Amino acid sequence: MADDLPDWNLDDDELRRAGSIKWTFAGPRILPAWVAEMDVRPAPAVRAALLDAVERGALGYPMPDAASGLPEATAAFVGRRFGLPVDPARVISCGDVMAGVRLTLEVLCDPGPVVVPTPAYPPFLQVPEVTGRGLITVPCRGRDLDVEAIGAALAAGGRTVLLSAPHNPLGRAFTATELTALRDVVLAHGARVISDEIHAPIVLGDTRHVPYASIEGTEGHVTTVLAASKAWNIPGVKCAQVIAGNPADLAALRAAPLVANHGTSPLGVVATVAAYTDADTWLDALLRDLAERREQFGSLLAQRLPQVSWTPHEATYLAWVDARGTGLADPSATALAEAAVMVHPGRLFGQGYEGFARVNLATSAERLERIVDRLARAWGG
Ligand SMILES: Cc1ncc(COP(=O)(O)O)c(C=O)c1O
Repeated sequence: MADDLPDWNLDDDELRRAGSIKWTFAGPRILPAWVAEMDVRPAPAVRAALLDAVERGALGYPMPDAASGLPEATAAFVGRRFGLPVDPARVISCGDVMAGVRLTLEVLCDPGPVVVPTPAYPPFLQVPEVTGRGLITVPCRGRDLDVEAIGAALAAGGRTVLLSAPHNPLGRAFTATELTALRDVVLAHGARVISDEIHAPIVLGDTRHVPYASIEGTEGHVTTVLAASKAWNIPGVKCAQVIAGNPADLAALRAAPLVANHGTSPLGVVATVAAYTDADTWLDALLRDLAERREQFGSLLAQRLPQVSWTPHEATYLAWVDARGTGLADPSATALAEAAVMVHPGRLFGQGYEGFARVNLATSAERLERIVDRLARAWGG
């Protein structure tokens, strides 16, 4: 195994011993294909940075952003991979992406309702209430944002659009045209956008990630939140980045009391700097592997589960499958009960998605085959 190639060669016992929620939540009999974690060994550069940090005893409170190198590494990565120039001074560290979303809602956004396109990453449906705000869900039109309906939700009082770009669970990488249309309705209503771009490094094939902040005219209302945690599989070390859209937002975010934004870790910072700085080769190889898993999943579905419908994702490693053709009321529950395979239930992603399931494809080719075998057993393939 070349040093810079992702190593998927971990057996089920090793993954269970690693102790992540994916492999421990449901117990040893269950084959997990649910939460967004990958069954891959840490990238060598990330592993080395973490071991070095532990050896140095870097286990105290984290350095301030001005001294940690994280803002510079984030800006360089976003510039190099997405073509967006970012002033490192605009980058603020936080514990994780949802903490960054909360911080932005509490510090920058009006107390009015949050508009969330559905299907939605389940915590998006919870964070408005946690921050004392209402929720307006807007179903996507197929796999596209329904910009007109988002405009109507803003006209009805919505103040903030919470966007997942690329989109979890749809796997869409939104185009500049779609994002420009979104910008227009947001500007028309004086609203804000929080653009959660945690999946931005994971775009497959020829797809490109377009940051919402790269669309002209968004700087007055956008806040971007991202992290290395999905692409390098390091959510447990706790580090995400908020990129303020403009100097006034930056000042407000920086002025927030410590208790409002307390939670990154020195291990998270060093792992993220290593990922953003020294791991492009590993990431490129990972994206090729994830594209192969996507092809494999398509072939397996065609052979084993023709009653399930699926459109290949452009980004993420998550397959959003329409399992209504199985005739089952809750396909995920049946998969768990009948075939001991755990996929994410569609009902958690919003109303109307009960017949859907999200399947995590970030695993070895061999295990993906086992996952589909079990789904086929449960879903009558
Ligand atoms: C769109 C999206 N946002 C946020 C998160 C969670 O990120 P964090 O653990 O950094 O809060 C996930 C995790 O899968 C996600 O898919």
